[in-house]
Amino acid sequence: MPQAAITGTGVFTPSEVITNDELVAAYNAYADRVNAENAAAIAEGRSEPLPHSSTEFIVQASGIENRFVLDKSGVLDPAVMHPVLRERSNDEPGVMAEMAVVAANQALAQAGVAADEIDAVLCAASNHERPYPAIAVEIQDLLGTGGFGFDMNVACSSATFGIQTAADMIRAGSLRKALVVSPEICSAHLEWRDRDCHFIFGDVCTALVLEREQDASGPHFTVRSTRLATRFSNNIRNNNGFLRRTRPGHMADRRDMLFVQEGRKVFRQVVPMVSAHILQHMTDEGITAAALKRIWLHQANKTMNDFIGRKVFGRIPEPGEQPNILQDYANTSSAGSIIAFSRFSNDLAPGDIGLICSFGAGYSVGSVIVERKG
Ligand code: COA
Repeated sequence: MPQAAITGTGVFTPSEVITNDELVAAYNAYADRVNAENAAAIAEGRSEPLPHSSTEFIVQASGIENRFVLDKSGVLDPAVMHPVLRERSNDEPGVMAEMAVVAANQALAQAGVAADEIDAVLCAASNHERPYPAIAVEIQDLLGTGGFGFDMNVACSSATFGIQTAADMIRAGSLRKALVVSPEICSAHLEWRDRDCHFIFGDVCTALVLEREQDASGPHFTVRSTRLATRFSNNIRNNNGFLRRTRPGHMADRRDMLFVQEGRKVFRQVVPMVSAHILQHMTDEGITAAALKRIWLHQANKTMNDFIGRKVFGRIPEPGEQPNILQDYANTSSAGSIIAFSRFSNDLAPGDIGLICSFGAGYSVGSVIVERKG
């Protein structure tokens, strides 16, 4: 059976950055405006004032300092509080496809693979801008790849589920080369008016080229083993969907039509789930903590990653063993662990073992054990 390898990575990073200070200033101006509008009700005790957000809280609770977004002007306008993106005609590339093409071209160049050699495009992301035609098929068309494309969604774990899907197809012989792209426009499903979560997300797109190891033309990472798991939870949820218009009040500005989470519960339940998942995966593959050179974790919360890193290594990880990018990018859903992998993997030596792990809504967790070659 052929082995699958990751031979190229790419990251599209939007040009606009929002710092915590900018974000907090916009949120606080919004809260002040709402409180002024509700002044009478607040004075009479019929309504609670919206409290202010703070940069200190955001850094201490999450480790996030900045986030990249496709549009900051709308997000930072207290009268708007969401990104404003131009509506495109059907004859123009969609936003997700456009981001994916930039990341994919980087990954293809690194792999030394031409677009027309690709047999499949998997668009693995936590939201897709339309149900059909699949974004992956549009990306296939824009890049000029062959074969087929399809979209898949396993929320924050989409990219690792995409890696296993592509690797399995390569191992089974149904294709030779695949692109797994994860365009994440998290700014559009985040409620920027909610102080509890307005700081957590950013936008990005990652891309991976996977191919048969024997076809790799340069240094690469062999996919030694993958493992996926899901367990139902309502603690991260988004109720938006195609049935919306079938229900009374369907177009109301309802909070549950965007990302909602019970952050504390997620933290408490997901850390042990992910730690146990990784440790079992390593045990089953005969990989000891001493043999593990690096882990590239999902990028939601620095403290969460510190806990998981300590469990996996059995000690506090050395600097560089568990690189984080969330301070610069915030949570970019399924793309986070792939950004970390893309940025912090080229220095590994042949034979070095690493592990990519994503986790999130579902709950879902995916781990990928890779070995540096060449
Ligand atoms: N500024 C100031 N204070 C804030 C605040 C803000 N932006 N947001 C919340 N607070 C306050 C709360 O009101 C609360 O106050 P109280 O103690 O007086 O009630 C306090 O800070 C703690 O709030 P809490 O929501 O419990 O914070 P937390 O420590 O759990 O941190 C998260 C919040 C979201 C950073 C954290 O729960 C987390 O990262 N969870 C995991 C999320 C995750 O991985 N999700 C996957 C998504 S894909």
